[in-house]
Amino acid sequence: MAATSSSLDVSKRDATINLGAGPSSLPTAVLLEAAQGLLDFQGTGMGLTELSHRSSTFKAVVDSAEASLRALLDIPDDYAVLFTQGGGTEQFSASALNMLSAHASRRGPAATATPTPAKCDYIVTGSWTAKAVKEAKRLGVAANVAVDAREHNGGKFGVVPPVSAWKLSSAASAEDAPAMLYYCDNETVDGVEFPAPGFPIDELPADYAERVPLVADCSSNILSRPIDVRRHALIFFGAQKNVGPSGVTVVIVRRNLIAHDPDAPAVLAQGGPRIPTTLVYKNLADNASLYNTPPMFSIYVAGLVFADLLKHGGVAGATERAAAKSGLVYGAIADSQGLFVPTVTQAAARSRMNVTFRVVSAEGTPDDGLEARFVAACAQRGIVQVKGHRSVGGIRCSLYNAVTLEQTAVLVDVMRAFIADERSRR
Ligand SMILES: Cc1ncc(COP(=O)(O)O)c(C=O)c1O
Repeated sequence: MAATSSSLDVSKRDATINLGAGPSSLPTAVLLEAAQGLLDFQGTGMGLTELSHRSSTFKAVVDSAEASLRALLDIPDDYAVLFTQGGGTEQFSASALNMLSAHASRRGPAATATPTPAKCDYIVTGSWTAKAVKEAKRLGVAANVAVDAREHNGGKFGVVPPVSAWKLSSAASAEDAPAMLYYCDNETVDGVEFPAPGFPIDELPADYAERVPLVADCSSNILSRPIDVRRHALIFFGAQKNVGPSGVTVVIVRRNLIAHDPDAPAVLAQGGPRIPTTLVYKNLADNASLYNTPPMFSIYVAGLVFADLLKHGGVAGATERAAAKSGLVYGAIADSQGLFVPTVTQAAARSRMNVTFRVVSAEGTPDDGLEARFVAACAQRGIVQVKGHRSVGGIRCSLYNAVTLEQTAVLVDVMRAFIADERSRR
């Protein structure tokens, strides 16, 4: 076959501002490098996805991605970093099953033939935690919804209720304490993010904080602000927002919470669940994420994104940029005199990543027609993917790490022009 050469055309891409909620924008420089790697990785004559996943060449890719992530998030050695598949959704089950198995492993010999299985506590602040609870219940997990934010906000998501309103399970003894406390740091659909600086760990009762492993779904805001890994048992995130292409899910887990033998009769006797092989954290950790064929391209691109972020100020730089970008957009909303209304009622819980709002008629009701006009006005300036999630409607502008301040300024320009135009009609 004849060799071909091509030069890649990014002109249309350069004129497009992609504010999609995920999969979403990635840095162009990273994708250009990845395009080269896809064709011929480091002069091997083979594309990255054509290499053996067991080769030393690919092992170096995984090692480098892990090292960069450790540097970005200050991940200590007693935590494993696992690259796996199945998305955030698969971690809804994997997190509960593995934490329950770890809990059963910690319990002593069964005092009764059928010990009560441990509970899992959930803080439900949006659609993704609601889904995690649904999945846990489907698997027979005793899921305790410690708080459902809808009950504190007229049936809709849009607030993070205070810790004083949470009905956490008892953690009076290590045996009876729940196997985990689960939360989602940023609810992508609803635009709810735990107010800065993050999940209120210090407000948990002391015995609870000490005994109950804390589990975080950070799929849509990881690497956009610091997170204290040491105070978590498990942090997971799908890649397709701030990390890379969909396909890889990253799990950061404290090594002493990885159940050594989930199938051991003593663990099963204590209520430990059977876990599908590819979800067993021990299998992934023991095999350095190569238990089975991993999502090679996604891991590769994630590694490039991590390296790129390290060059651009790391998480501290991303935190500053996220504050500046979301500040601009929320500023335009505040200046709209009620034309744009945030869907998140609690100002401190408004997401820096997913800015959600309704466009409201002169009568004060959300107006689909006006929203369609706003989407069209965005499109005229090359801004795409700003329609709200199908389950909630409205507008959602996602300002992930790859969205620049300059691109955000164009959005704000469109918003301000739209405000002026609409005001002149009313
Ligand atoms: C916060 C959060 N958790 C979980 C998921 C589910 O991820 P996936 O589609 O990769 O299974 C998403 C998807 O957007 C998400 O935003």
